[in-house]
Amino acid sequence: MKKMWGGRFSKKTDLLTDDFNSSISFDQRLYKQDVLGSIAHARMLGKQNIIDPKESELIISTLLDILEDIEAGKVEFSVAMEDIHMNVEAILTERIGEVGKKLHTGRSRNDQVATDMRLYVKDISQDIKGLMSELITTLLDLADEHTKTIMPGYTHLQRAQPITFSHHLMAYVEMFKRDMIRMQQVYAMSDTLPLGSGALATTTYPLDRESVALELGFAAVSLNSLDGVSDRDFCIDFLEAAAVFMMHLSRFSEEIILWCTSEFNFVTLDDAFSTGSSIMPQKKNPDIAELVRGKTGRVYGDLLGFLTTMKGIPLAYNKDMQEDKEPVFDAYDTISICAITFTKMVKTMTVNKAVMVKAAAGGFSNATDAADWLVKHGVAFRNAHEIIGKLVFYALDHQKSLDELTLAEYHSVSPVFDDTIYQAIDLNVCVNQRNIIGGPAEEQVKKAIAFNREWLNQC
Ligand code: ARG
Repeated sequence: MKKMWGGRFSKKTDLLTDDFNSSISFDQRLYKQDVLGSIAHARMLGKQNIIDPKESELIISTLLDILEDIEAGKVEFSVAMEDIHMNVEAILTERIGEVGKKLHTGRSRNDQVATDMRLYVKDISQDIKGLMSELITTLLDLADEHTKTIMPGYTHLQRAQPITFSHHLMAYVEMFKRDMIRMQQVYAMSDTLPLGSGALATTTYPLDRESVALELGFAAVSLNSLDGVSDRDFCIDFLEAAAVFMMHLSRFSEEIILWCTSEFNFVTLDDAFSTGSSIMPQKKNPDIAELVRGKTGRVYGDLLGFLTTMKGIPLAYNKDMQEDKEPVFDAYDTISICAITFTKMVKTMTVNKAVMVKAAAGGFSNATDAADWLVKHGVAFRNAHEIIGKLVFYALDHQKSLDELTLAEYHSVSPVFDDTIYQAIDLNVCVNQRNIIGGPAEEQVKKAIAFNREWLNQC
């Protein structure tokens, strides 16, 4: 097949070069963005009388047919045509002859591909935002059910203070909200039209870039043609947002994996979202959570790989930039499937409430509250800390929890105690007295759930 740029060449490209150079195997994903970008360009060329308006109409209607045919699976792309841009143009020319060759007037593949990628990243950022929103809704629904489910909160993976399962879930809601905001920022960063930048220095044709931006739904037009063709920050922004989202999913997965162990047994995954072992008949494995945790590394790789690709590229376009696509596609595919599967896994898991409460009761998680009781009865906090430390030491030795100690035992470490201490260290009281914004008290968590439902509605 004759190359579109073949004029100054006397020899055919080696087949290996065709293979190595071509991106059609993966950039055919951009067919829709490419065709829509071309339609907007052709319309503007006609409107500006850069090409005959009748010819512009023919190009547009043929491009629409091509789009339909691609979607119906009727089009076969060719490696010799390198990429989606030249494939579409070649099909157009095949169908309408010479007129098709006018589409590329005042345009370069450099500003074309930058436009396609921006349109694509705008689309996927919205798509991912939708998946994040479904995940958050699932967590809010689950949080609604568990505002009274006491569990131990941990630091250093040691039982620290009692909280509720709701409160724990709502921490992840905050993370995923930030992820949604980041995806919205990705959209905003992609929302500038580079078309019109030409190969690097715009063009001598009187292009109306603003009308193209309007048709394609871009908020602005790029102000420097060199940056227009060589900026891939928006891809990096997407990859970064994807990597942080995976980091959050991975932390959550790690907790679920722990919670599924017989040692914790805080949750039981649904059979439909677990797997077995080929040798050990008793096994039920949290493979989904493990895979999400594992795939996080892969998305970090997408980000770091492409950041590295970009770091040494002089202005303006260089072919290295073709390497933007696979990491973006891979990260998109990975975070989509992870978000969808993870959401379903969480939606169907059983929460073992009684086990959680028992764990909270067993680990002295109310020791801070006992110290606070002393403070409220006139003991300086440091001294209170010391007294309760001694009490814990004693209780450990006698295999008792704080609420199992007698008042006489309390008095053995401090005469200040009276029997209101038992009320103060009741786990429900411990949780519900933490009743300031951000706290685990039922009242606060319910407010946070309502606030976040409203936040999602506004999004
Ligand atoms: N397939 C190319 C890419 O994705 C399109 C731009 C090619 N431009 C060029 N001057 N060779 O980057």
